[in-house]
Amino acid sequence: MAQERFLMAGVMGWPVMHSRSPRLHNYWLQKHGLAGVYVPLGIKIEGLGAALRALPALGFSGCNLTIPHKVEALKIVDNLDPLAKRIGAANCIVVGPDGSLNGFNNDGWGYIENVVDRVPGWRADAGPVVVVGAGGGARAVIVGLQDRGAREIRLVNRSPERAAALVAQIGGSITTIAWNDRNRALDGAAMVVNTTSQGMVGQPALDLSLDVLPKTALVSDIVYTPLETPLLAAARKRGNPTVDGLGMLLHQARPAFKAWFGVLPEVTAELRQSIEATL
Ligand SMILES: NC(=O)c1ccc[n+]([C@@H]2O[C@H](COP(=O)([O-])OP(=O)(O)OC[C@H]3O[C@@H](n4cnc5c(N)ncnc54)[C@H](OP(=O)(O)O)[C@@H]3O)[C@@H](O)[C@H]2O)c1
Repeated sequence: MAQERFLMAGVMGWPVMHSRSPRLHNYWLQKHGLAGVYVPLGIKIEGLGAALRALPALGFSGCNLTIPHKVEALKIVDNLDPLAKRIGAANCIVVGPDGSLNGFNNDGWGYIENVVDRVPGWRADAGPVVVVGAGGGARAVIVGLQDRGAREIRLVNRSPERAAALVAQIGGSITTIAWNDRNRALDGAAMVVNTTSQGMVGQPALDLSLDVLPKTALVSDIVYTPLETPLLAAARKRGNPTVDGLGMLLHQARPAFKAWFGVLPEVTAELRQSIEATL
């Protein structure tokens, strides 16, 4: 049966041309034989309200949000999913049948799904988890870890105020550790996650010594350009298992695609390769 309408979604951000999301969603549209397109939408912060309100009128199913829109969008949406509310940011907008704008956050889910996928038998409650960073990415990762049963989270951030604000909003068993004590925070940890921008192309490596980290601890990064950050390279060299940040991006996109287009797509080796080829 012919499709009733051409499917449309996109990613709003500024800058936005670096985003891999168009390649990812267009791959799935094609894979599932759906006539549609996912486009980069270069929207500055002052234009976000008008751009979001235009989505239903233009027939868009929704959009993703990236820097700098994830928090600002909370003020604009008509309905906010409880998980997005807890995280304090939305990365996905779904246009309802009545034209309403519904905000979701799939980043934490994507992070956890990827770890589960890459590390068979992984458990969030295996021991203390050190989260480095307290920005939007950290909030999503921490909520994902808590919902998966993490019992002790050690939060290390350069600015103590931002760490304190995160704890005040999210709650649960999170201990904040001063930036100067970050290396010692790894003692006895079962897992470490870098959620800062350090290690990204054009940025210095994350300044963190792995000396006291148990060799069995999982080291992961949510930065995916480069795929192997200096942190992951150091961890691999000393024998720790590692998980890169690309899978988080791939997995968070699955529930968004399902909500917009009605099909839950898969993260396959072929898809990963096709995105890796652009990094
Ligand atoms: N894989 C994925 O799907 C995915 C999803 C989301 C984000 N990300 C990536 O994650 C990274 C962070 O994104 P975000 O949205 O969380 O950013 P954000 O909200 O701006 O937070 C940035 C974090 O990095 C820390 N930071 C920045 N410069 C630092 C430095 N020189 N030394 C130590 N810490 C520093 C900040 O600490 P202060 O509080 O002290 O400033 C803060 O904790 C980006 O590289 C982004 O591309 C990946």
